[in-house]
Amino acid sequence: MITKKLEKEMNDQINREFYSAYLYLSMSAWFKEQNFDGFANWMNVQYQEESFHAMKLFEYVVERGGKIVLQQIDQPDNEFESVTKIFELTLEHERFITGCINNLMNVAIEEKDHAAKSFLQWYIDEQVEEEANADKLLQTIKMVKANPHTLYMMDKELTTRSFTPPAPV
Ligand SMILES: [Fe+2]
Ligand SMILES: [Fe+2]
Repeated sequence: MITKKLEKEMNDQINREFYSAYLYLSMSAWFKEQNFDGFANWMNVQYQEESFHAMKLFEYVVERGGKIVLQQIDQPDNEFESVTKIFELTLEHERFITGCINNLMNVAIEEKDHAAKSFLQWYIDEQVEEEANADKLLQTIKMVKANPHTLYMMDKELTTRSFTPPAPV
């Protein structure tokens, strides 16, 4: 079983993961408009990852006998200032999500729900990677932004990223 409090927190997190998916899909569309197909692809993979994060939580809540209450997803921005700005927003958003995941873990600890703690550990680890990926891209873009050719090469490189769902544990 899952406590009502944790059930509510997990439903809220499902909504935030779907919002993240939506946000990155919107960023992907913006990159497409700018003919940055590689960055668009990177954001499309992000979109798929976030949908996976949402569904992983969804399945956990169901498995633990909780109730899924899907909530309205906020409209993400659809205009962005620049490539640099997008990755600043991405990093900022991932840091926000890390805080939410930490909060979820705190609730699991308070509720002495060891299964939930074990489950949430995956998200704690995932956020380390999410922040690192966003930060690395941001730093690289800041370095090359004065050089359109290097930005073009970077865009080319990012066309190869693809989504591989993690193996079930
Ligand atoms: Fe996520
Ligand atoms: Fe994320």
